[in-house]
Amino acid sequence: MKRILAPSLLAADFKQLGKQIAMAEQGGAEYLHFDVMDGHFVPSISFGMPVLESIRDAGNQVLDAHLMITEPIRYVEAFQKAGADILTVHLEACMDVKATLLKIKACGMKVGISIKPKTAVSTLAALLEMVDMVLVMTVEPGFGGQKIIPETIDKVRELRTLADGKGLDLDIQVDGGIYHENVHLLLEAGANIIVAGSAVFAGDITANVRRFIEIFQNTKRCL
Ligand code: DX5
Ligand code: ZN
Repeated sequence: MKRILAPSLLAADFKQLGKQIAMAEQGGAEYLHFDVMDGHFVPSISFGMPVLESIRDAGNQVLDAHLMITEPIRYVEAFQKAGADILTVHLEACMDVKATLLKIKACGMKVGISIKPKTAVSTLAALLEMVDMVLVMTVEPGFGGQKIIPETIDKVRELRTLADGKGLDLDIQVDGGIYHENVHLLLEAGANIIVAGSAVFAGDITANVRRFIEIFQNTKRCL
């Protein structure tokens, strides 16, 4: 299964956004992770459609939008128009999660579903066939720069086992508190799309990305 780094723009320096996106791409980051917060589902507010639209052709990366917003079904078309390639919504934020996932698919984007650290993997069992990616949050959503919650690593392992049992080629994304020093634990547990904010945008961005990719190549999955 292909391993991909998704730098989280939340940690970027916004006055140099285009330049920093190019540096991440140069290092080999194939995705850009775009965290949308509404001040309701999570306490903080980040950025939305206009910012996404302005970076959509900054590079060739896949635009991976993580919606931390209440009732995201209201904004599915808007994010598609703004340039999202993958749209991830929170299970906890949807009144009708199946309708939300179907709408994302109907709009031509890849479908992602996310669960917070305290939400059990079993709540996703009936939805796995409907999605391309599951995002297992490894911190409480809302802020960058937090410490990973170790118990979430076991959830990744449980989810990978569940997906394998169903014969699904599922992308498992992890997000929050991931650094060069601990990323191997998530790869070993079966995650293949790694979000990293602070670990990419502090210091030499291109070198930080390259170092992650080197670890991707040198770590074996072990269940
Ligand atoms: C948290 C966001 C993350 C965050 C990751 O709610 O979903 O994407 O920016 O940042 P780091 O890697 O700094 O924990
Ligand atoms: Zn995120």
